[in-house]
Amino acid sequence: MIKKAVIPAAGLGTRFLPATKAQPKEMLPIIDTPVIQYVVQECVDSGIEDILIISGKGKRSIEDHFDRNFELEACIQEKEDEIVFNQLRHIENMANIHFIRQKELNGLGDAILHARFHCGSEPFAVLLGDTVIDAVIPATQQMIDTFEQYGQPIIAVETVPPDKVSRYGIVGGTEINKKLLQLDDLIEKPEVKKAPSNLAVAGRYILTPDIFTALEKTPRGKGNEIQLTDALRILLKHNGILAQTIEGKRHDLGDKLDFLKTTIEFALKRDEFAKPLREFIKQIIKEK
Ligand code: G1P
Repeated sequence: MIKKAVIPAAGLGTRFLPATKAQPKEMLPIIDTPVIQYVVQECVDSGIEDILIISGKGKRSIEDHFDRNFELEACIQEKEDEIVFNQLRHIENMANIHFIRQKELNGLGDAILHARFHCGSEPFAVLLGDTVIDAVIPATQQMIDTFEQYGQPIIAVETVPPDKVSRYGIVGGTEINKKLLQLDDLIEKPEVKKAPSNLAVAGRYILTPDIFTALEKTPRGKGNEIQLTDALRILLKHNGILAQTIEGKRHDLGDKLDFLKTTIEFALKRDEFAKPLREFIKQIIKEK
């Protein structure tokens, strides 16, 4: 059973400047809900209620978001807005959320190393704080189901076009079935001609505690940072690792165009926006 999840959220969000100059990228809203709330919801929907967020400088608003706000509650109660009141209480009670700060930004691998004492000897899920996966069965749940069957660490992967290969960790391996690959290689952000495939690491992992020992041995890699991909590569020398194609749609919310598209897609799924937004889109396309 996987009972714990780690959400790294200490990064500077440089891909989304200037919006992220004074606010965390994880708090940027898709319509009215911060990205990180979708990620926490995925944990909860996958049966995980113990969540460690790796936070850092300038990330206080993430803690405030999941905390209770009595003044706001009183104000909403006075207005007798039951729907919003229940939304506020839902956020505060979603899960047991813990925070630890990554004092220096030494990369994703170093961020995960901060979870060592929290996770102890248990396997755990990792969900990157700027990736939302829209799926009928939550992505993390799909991976937990696979972990229960195979008992090996799992990396979620997605096929990407050649021009995006150098933006992701890329894996190579042998097919077990349509969804699963037994890994024999993985490289962080390779040049397209050196990439073992075009299957990209997609922001979700199930890891076992031996990752911490591997991380300790991992030298600085791409961008002079300690990369989780490099630690997994060390682990691969002794352990089996699987890559799983997730059934669902991944939204990389560190990417501005993807963020815009996601906002429109999510709005079109909401009853209050679907019709007027569809009409608006048709109209502006006609005007162009
Ligand atoms: C990180 C990982 C990379 C992965 C990507 C997914 O990179 O290091 O392997 O493919 O997330 O979003 P980052 O986006 O933090 O540069």
